[in-house]
Amino acid sequence: MNKLTIGMFGFGCVGQGLYHTLLYSTGFTTHIKKIVVKTHGKKREAPVDLFSFNKEDILNDDSINVVVELIDDAAEAFEIVKSALQRGKHVITANKKMVALHLTELLQLQEANDVSLLYEGAVCGSIPIIRTLEEYFDNEPLHKVSGIFNGTTNYILTKTLHEGMNYAEALSQAQEKGFAETDPTSDVEGYDVMYKTIIVALQSFGVLLDSTQLVRTGITNIKAKDVAFAATQHKVIKLLANVVKQSDGGVAAYILPALVANNHSLANVHNEFNGVVVEGEFSGTQFFMGRGAGSYPTGAAVLSDVSALSYGYRYAFKKHAQKIHYGFTNNVVLPIFISSTVQEDIDSVSLVEEKILPVTENYFSKTGHINLNMLKQQLIQTPRLFVATL
Ligand SMILES: NC(=O)c1ccc[n+]([C@@H]2O[C@H](COP(=O)([O-])OP(=O)(O)OC[C@H]3O[C@@H](n4cnc5c(N)ncnc54)[C@H](OP(=O)(O)O)[C@@H]3O)[C@@H](O)[C@H]2O)c1
Repeated sequence: MNKLTIGMFGFGCVGQGLYHTLLYSTGFTTHIKKIVVKTHGKKREAPVDLFSFNKEDILNDDSINVVVELIDDAAEAFEIVKSALQRGKHVITANKKMVALHLTELLQLQEANDVSLLYEGAVCGSIPIIRTLEEYFDNEPLHKVSGIFNGTTNYILTKTLHEGMNYAEALSQAQEKGFAETDPTSDVEGYDVMYKTIIVALQSFGVLLDSTQLVRTGITNIKAKDVAFAATQHKVIKLLANVVKQSDGGVAAYILPALVANNHSLANVHNEFNGVVVEGEFSGTQFFMGRGAGSYPTGAAVLSDVSALSYGYRYAFKKHAQKIHYGFTNNVVLPIFISSTVQEDIDSVSLVEEKILPVTENYFSKTGHINLNMLKQQLIQTPRLFVATL
């Protein structure tokens, strides 16, 4: 078992969660030698001599063999992680944006420097989905991985749709509870889910996706009448990540609200909980659920990475290494529901097998089928549109 001497960046929601969970972990030998933070004069619930404001206190210390990166600035996080890997330190991070936007370079860095980079805490909080895909499903061909990957939006949807709370109040509660990203746009516009989708696509299908390829929209355009329409169909609205293998071997990935049947497992994932559905060739459908955000749940995922490092664990990126490499495709037709408060928005979108729904005051909607390439263009041209898969 390896002795781990940790240098930690960040002592916010997740950093403190990890700090406290480590105090209760007796199964391996670790020692946090230094914690680098940003703001001077903040009261911290840890001994004052642990803290520093100079990143070189960790990066230049040869006795520190593990960097745990838990800051809320993806650009700076990449600089820290790159430098740590180049200096032969193992890295654990929960920063999905940083990982997703630099996956190719990070894979090369860990390979070239013969070190480990782990990021279980970056995807779906406490659900051990990365290691499950990486280890358990390493050889089984998968058809689809989908689910609720963002605790903040699921919290807002639960509170507004089921408990009558207004949007601003629900968002502010999610922020107070430490679920929301520093900039909530990343959560509510679906960027956070997109980063996680990119990571999941690598671990489940071996593909390296470019964020500009993906169709993505969030929950900001949902209206009460959309919820009412969903209810008439015995469905609820959820923001879903989807990575789906197509019959021609390509992989489609998209982040869209969906009308989910009331009796589906994902319809019953509430508040900050996340849910992941893995559909395998031989195992069939599996459903995972757990807390998708928050100090201790995410801290626990990071703790599990620390524990894994203590026995020398490293991702092998087996699906990627198998060179199955299904190409990315947006050439997929989906059944969808669209709505807007403006008729021209609806008229401007042509759907196959289109069905216009009854018009009510300032509310226009229809259902039909659309190709993802066309939908991608449409979302740019029609920013007020609410779109959900059926
Ligand atoms: N919150 C969640 O539930 C959750 C879940 C999964 C993943 N994550 C990810 O975990 C990471 C941390 O999130 P969080 O919620 O813990 O953020 P947070 O509560 O806002 O804390 C951020 C921490 O980063 C420190 N920091 C910011 N810039 C820094 C810099 N340049 N150098 C050193 N320290 C710096 C801050 O220092 P000061 O204390 O001095 O301000 C603070 O301690 C993010 O990548 C986030 O996406 C969060």
